[in-house]
Amino acid sequence: MSSIGENGADFLVVANRLPVDLERLPDGTQRWKHSPGGLVTALEPFLRTHSGAWVGWPGIADAEVDAFQEDGLQLHPVTLSATEVADYYEGFSNGTLWPLYHDVVAPPAFHRTWWNAYVRVNQRFADVTAKVAAQGATVWVQDYQLQLVPAMLRELRPDLRIGFFLHIPFPPVELFMQLPWRTEIIRGLLGADLVGFHRPGGAQNFLWLARRLVGLEPSRGAVGVRTRPGVVQVGDRTVRVGAFPISIDSAGLDALARDKEVQKHAKQIRADLGNPKKILLGVDRLDYTKGIDVRLRALHELLADGRVDPSEVTMVQLATPSRERVEHYRQMRGEIEQAVGRINGEFSTVGHPVVHYLHQSVNRRELTAFMTAADVMVVTPVRDGMNLVCKEYVATRYDLGGALVLSEFAGAAAELTSAFLVNPHDLDGVKNALEAALTLDPAEGRRRMRALRRQVLTHDVDRWARSFLDALGTQSTI
Ligand code: ADP
Ligand code: F6P
Repeated sequence: MSSIGENGADFLVVANRLPVDLERLPDGTQRWKHSPGGLVTALEPFLRTHSGAWVGWPGIADAEVDAFQEDGLQLHPVTLSATEVADYYEGFSNGTLWPLYHDVVAPPAFHRTWWNAYVRVNQRFADVTAKVAAQGATVWVQDYQLQLVPAMLRELRPDLRIGFFLHIPFPPVELFMQLPWRTEIIRGLLGADLVGFHRPGGAQNFLWLARRLVGLEPSRGAVGVRTRPGVVQVGDRTVRVGAFPISIDSAGLDALARDKEVQKHAKQIRADLGNPKKILLGVDRLDYTKGIDVRLRALHELLADGRVDPSEVTMVQLATPSRERVEHYRQMRGEIEQAVGRINGEFSTVGHPVVHYLHQSVNRRELTAFMTAADVMVVTPVRDGMNLVCKEYVATRYDLGGALVLSEFAGAAAELTSAFLVNPHDLDGVKNALEAALTLDPAEGRRRMRALRRQVLTHDVDRWARSFLDALGTQSTI
């Protein structure tokens, strides 16, 4: 078990966001709320049971907050100015790297002012971490917002053991090569002792770039899942490069789904929706990579073709507000809300909308109730590093009910092969899969769900973290 002694923390996570976000209310008061996104969902349960420290941004500009203890976790806030939020977070992280790493599904923008802010803020994260880490501590740096931190931290604190994990896809090399600062990013990541990706393909791409851009001689063998990491010698250090598919607190969600109150709530949701024969559910951050538009288009056509009866089928789309000041997100929100309006305008009757769209985040219990109530979970990203929502759905279906429609372009598709796998660019294929899931024979549904659950329950977030930390060589100290 790790500890936070007088001389600093032995185990630290460094991520763009803290697990809680500071919110300023209209009356001038402030409160902490749960942060959005898969990174926090995955890491928080692990960190809480290992009493580590977490270095991160409190989620709003100019928040000067001292380090504090929260439910067993030591939180170390990093302050960002409004300009830094605009240039480092909304700009370089979410206007350059996010679209570039997601197969340029939106055009990435390259601005030197954004890059300069990214360097400055990464340095600040490294500085704060260097101050609070104990001698010889393990530091686990997270995600695309902080790719320079490993090298910066190593410079300041060569005694530390440093891991880095990328929560989003690592792109094909042809796309990565567009980045004007490509060599700096690869050098930044090479500061870690272990660089982790969701899929072996990401690790292979990274190894290729280490050769091409930095002139190193990485190993040439195929990287496996949790096995056979690639190896690259950087001066007198050995850097390992591996694939570690992330997961969820499967047992925790399974238990929550069995809770009588949650089941009652699920029944209530069905009743509130008018007890339709079938409920389709989408749960996402409102992000253009998630393919919310794809599933709405497919539903619209199925209704127009007469293949889905609007009096029998209802769709619920929960969409967490996300990155609302970034232009592509604003535009996409308008398009999605228009598509919802179009379906409801054409196919709803008074008091019975076909699509229930909530631009809101719900708590874990409510989310579990929605998943329990849903007959078909629809997960159709055009690109997603892993996607936890599909794993969450599977974990909640201890009754072996429900069906999962899942994009081939989510990292999870490699593990959840008994889902209805779809190419989100093939609208007819998505329509066919939705129809098949809606009309699924119960015995076939149980067979598929049993296979999905076997995977998700045996490969949980604890296993993910342990396999990464084992490969980093620090498991025994945490
Ligand atoms: P990302 O990290 O890109 O947001 P993931 O699917 O990996 O995508 O993780 C999203 C996490 O956020 C999941 O734990 C999911 O349950 C949660 N989530 C997404 N939308 C909502 C919502 N509207 N309400 C509550 N939780 C949500
Ligand atoms: O995993 C992708 C990710 O970008 C995380 O890094 C992040 O915590 C989450 O999605 C939510 O995004 P944001 O922090 O930009 O709201």
